[in-house]
Amino acid sequence: MRIAITGSNGQLGLALRQALAGHDLMHIDLPEHDITDLEGINEAVLHFEPDVILHTAAITDVDGCERDPELAYRVNVLGTRNMAVAAQASDAPMVYISTDYVFDGARQEPYWEYDATQPQSVYARTKWLGEELTRQLLTRFYVVRIAWLYGDGPRNFVRTVLRLAEERDSIQMVTDEVGSPTYALDVAGALSQLIHMPAYGTYHLPNAGVCSRYDWAGEILRLAGVADQVELQPSANYPRAAQVPKYVEMRNFAAAELGITMRPWGEALWDYMARAGLLRDG
Ligand SMILES: NC(=O)c1ccc[n+]([C@@H]2O[C@H](COP(=O)([O-])OP(=O)(O)OC[C@H]3O[C@@H](n4cnc5c(N)ncnc54)[C@H](OP(=O)(O)O)[C@@H]3O)[C@@H](O)[C@H]2O)c1
Repeated sequence: MRIAITGSNGQLGLALRQALAGHDLMHIDLPEHDITDLEGINEAVLHFEPDVILHTAAITDVDGCERDPELAYRVNVLGTRNMAVAAQASDAPMVYISTDYVFDGARQEPYWEYDATQPQSVYARTKWLGEELTRQLLTRFYVVRIAWLYGDGPRNFVRTVLRLAEERDSIQMVTDEVGSPTYALDVAGALSQLIHMPAYGTYHLPNAGVCSRYDWAGEILRLAGVADQVELQPSANYPRAAQVPKYVEMRNFAAAELGITMRPWGEALWDYMARAGLLRDG
């Protein structure tokens, strides 16, 4: 297949490049390609003639989006409009990657794909608007919501926790933020199955199960074998620019009906840390 991947240098983009290595791939990322350039991106994508577009590029700094909403709207909303236009012009379906943050996280039970959304921050609103534009402009689309993503690349929660453990005697982590740590390579594997099925619509593909940031950090320290070298302290209400959901568990109903399921987050974390050489035993 000919597959165009936006955000190809990001966490999910790198995982997709790995999972789809046998295909003919177009890498769309800054500085060569800017998805906010309607004409330029349309021309480049048309020239490539993709069979499918995987649109992962976004401004993902949630607090940064509060400080610079124009950039967030330009990339996450208008950039998505541009990719949808390019998908139309090249007659290709598009996968739009969205987020658990489209939900407000105010209830304690799992959200289905069809539950009402209520984005609470600039980042969440722009990602939700990206979903809406995808649905309005395209008939062949997959809107795929994922959650707390980590994967290859220099920056992610796992590496941050391990760096803090090296630098400090104690680390504070919130207990009042609950979600699903999600391994980019697992999402990429699921997407590589989904794009072969003309089952267009909305999907939830986080790793299974939920935990708090505190629990997640604890498991990272345990697997790295450094849990006894640093004190992990629970905290609540960590002050940040963006309002983030307190508790989001997304149920995978639609993809599971197609036979696409995601493994529990703990298993995926072990696998990532093993591959990255971060486990206690290397
Ligand atoms: N990270 C999470 O925890 C999380 C959770 C749920 C959903 N998601 C969604 O999952 C997707 C992938 O996330 P990720 O963590 O892989 O993101 P990421 O690592 O931040 O990568 C995003 C990529 O998009 C690029 N990009 C930004 N503006 C662009 C533009 N105008 N034109 C072309 N490329 C541009 C970025 O380049 P620069 O680095 O140069 O800006 C970066 O390489 C996003 O849509 C995100 O909203 C992420």
